[in-house]
Amino acid sequence: MAALVLFGGGGDLAMRMLLPSLYFLDHEGRLADGLKIIGAARSDESRDEYVEKVRAACRSKAEPDGVWDATTWARMEARLDYLAVDATSPESLKPLKDKVGDGPITSFLAVSPSLYARIVSAMKAAGLAEDNCRVVLEKPVGRDLKSFLEIDDAVADAFDEDQVFRIDHYLGKETVQNLIALRFGNTVFEPLWNAQNIDHVQITIGETVGVGDRWPYYDEYGALRDMLQNHMLQLLCLVAMEPPSDLDPESVRNEKVKVLRSLRPITFEEAERVTVRGQYVGGPFEGGTVKGYDEERGLDSDTETFVAIRADIDNWRWAGVPFFMRTGKRLPEKRTEIVIQFKPLPHSIFDSGDRGEVEANRMVIELQPEEDISLTVMNKKAGLDARMQLQPIKMSLTWGFRGKDETPPRRRIAYERLLLDALNGDSTLFVRRDEAEQAWKWVDEVSEAWTDGHVKPIEYAPGSWGPTEADYLLERTGRAWNTTDA
Ligand code: BG6
Repeated sequence: MAALVLFGGGGDLAMRMLLPSLYFLDHEGRLADGLKIIGAARSDESRDEYVEKVRAACRSKAEPDGVWDATTWARMEARLDYLAVDATSPESLKPLKDKVGDGPITSFLAVSPSLYARIVSAMKAAGLAEDNCRVVLEKPVGRDLKSFLEIDDAVADAFDEDQVFRIDHYLGKETVQNLIALRFGNTVFEPLWNAQNIDHVQITIGETVGVGDRWPYYDEYGALRDMLQNHMLQLLCLVAMEPPSDLDPESVRNEKVKVLRSLRPITFEEAERVTVRGQYVGGPFEGGTVKGYDEERGLDSDTETFVAIRADIDNWRWAGVPFFMRTGKRLPEKRTEIVIQFKPLPHSIFDSGDRGEVEANRMVIELQPEEDISLTVMNKKAGLDARMQLQPIKMSLTWGFRGKDETPPRRRIAYERLLLDALNGDSTLFVRRDEAEQAWKWVDEVSEAWTDGHVKPIEYAPGSWGPTEADYLLERTGRAWNTTDA
């Protein structure tokens, strides 16, 4: 019997993301007939109680999309089971092993990363790490290089690397995969994709939410470890990597790791110049008033809820092209975008004032709130005016995503793609050990530079784009962050 075991199966990630994703996959007939889904968690509840919670969780996601139906639910319900376990104890995992038997088992660890090492060791002892088993690890694995290696050594002791699936849910987002299609499925962009033609790259992940009651986790990590070490560096890798020879998981990941290895270390002398740490304070936001991070936390904390960094990639393709990244909580918009700013014309023939300003081409790859890739190009204003006048026009691929007159497809949860790939053993969109290792190495250098340079978070008001220092980061170099309507 094939089984998917969700450790932490009653927790937030499982209920909000994983189980609804499985429902959607089942609705589309994408789950194997005999697949069992087993929730495993500490709480001592019955199968019926668990099933009821899963039902409510799936329904709340599926109903608004008009895909909640009795047939799918009946199929899903028949797959479900629940077992109260202490996942760190081989003894306690025995009944789970008896339940799943010798079939292929995929175990998803949706629990605190601090438990990963002990859980995988217990899984090994309980026979849940055999050759036909896989393990899926939710990020962040570790909170620095040292703890990552400790956890990963325990994982490597139980599983071979091709059985390990380290999730970064950003890689499951449709537009992120589309970036690979855009770069390597077209001849027109790749020749321009280098320092000769690109001035700089921006990556923004803005969120309006605060940390709220997630602080016990968040305070240990902060924006640098929670978002930049994983999601942002993965996006940077996909923008910057060389063309892989094919889409084989190893080929793609080989190229990504080369980018991470080429990131210029940030020294403590430089930390203040190329990084910005911020923390939101309380104040008016979205029509109400919100608490500051320290208030949520209940004491003064030096954890950053915002980070902006200039990264440089020391290789031939990107020499001299800065990559600016910023992410934070309580920003004005939930917005994720990658901006490719091309260089200005080498010489303009439209140089007189009344012809309109010639803007350099800009490609915006928007992941959230909309999924779109657009390219701003200069165009002649229509009409018979004597002098040729120019204007920027945005060419958008949105129609391509949707089909011109069709209703937009359902916005998938990123975990749908990733759960399906893990169940099928395809690791292309998962993070390999050496990638995570390199990413931690670079991030450790940043956090050490902050410690050595005594760089503390700067306060910012909710609803702002972080401290103004984040604007100076670009302004100093004669550049500016993209604004939504640009
Ligand atoms: C998670 C972080 O990995 O990503 C959260 O832990 C963050 O802090 C979330 O809110 C953002 O994901 P998305 O898909 O909503 O952009």
